[in-house]
Amino acid sequence: MSKQSDIPVIEADYDGTRVNLATPPRDVGTYVAQGGLALLKGAFPVDLLQNILDGVFAWGQQCAPQRESSVSFHRIDERPQQSRTPHTFHAYNFLLHPGAIDAKIDTLIRPIFSAMRDLQNAVAGTNAGFEPDAESRFLQPQVIQYPSGGGFFGEHVHPLEPQRVGLIVGLSEKGRDFKNGGTCFRVGGRNYSFEDTHSMGDIILFRYDVPHWITPIDDEEHLDWTRRAGRWTMVLPLLPGQKVTG
Ligand SMILES: [Fe+2]
Repeated sequence: MSKQSDIPVIEADYDGTRVNLATPPRDVGTYVAQGGLALLKGAFPVDLLQNILDGVFAWGQQCAPQRESSVSFHRIDERPQQSRTPHTFHAYNFLLHPGAIDAKIDTLIRPIFSAMRDLQNAVAGTNAGFEPDAESRFLQPQVIQYPSGGGFFGEHVHPLEPQRVGLIVGLSEKGRDFKNGGTCFRVGGRNYSFEDTHSMGDIILFRYDVPHWITPIDDEEHLDWTRRAGRWTMVLPLLPGQKVTG
């Protein structure tokens, strides 16, 4: 893997409402549009994220996984046959509407996902929200666990429009929650691994059409969906229409 010396690393902090950057968000948007990647260090405090990790994991152990739902649900994918991109992960898909989400989980995650929404819009120059827009598109808060024992996501790309920028919040810490594996990108023919630089609370920003993948997490371990071990992230994809696809 290449070194990350040419990736902008930007100091960030959370004031309880929004993520503030040492560089104006539109300039960060220009970096990402031109160079494909940026890393925001220390965007969210670890203690807040730890509460989310604990709460979401506990919720997932309390209620059964489902394939689809019209309310918040979680889903286990272990190399599903019908899937275009091979993957193994546990996805927690949230709808931030009263009655569609456990009230305790809502209180835990809403502030962070709201700050992620505002940051993503500011960097990308978009105006996406949790409520469907005129074209029925909406942002879906997701927490994803790539479990120890081989959680991974094969290489894939997304169309640049309409989202333009993707963001990945680190919700776990290498060395404590998992031993090896991480998010990789390919820009201009070079591969970049964030395995050792994407700490809990940091945000990777990537131009949405850049190829990316997750290398297997602790592949030598036994896969056990009741374990919390693994690499955890928070993401906010802009989904088309009302159908929740996870
Ligand atoms: Fe992706």
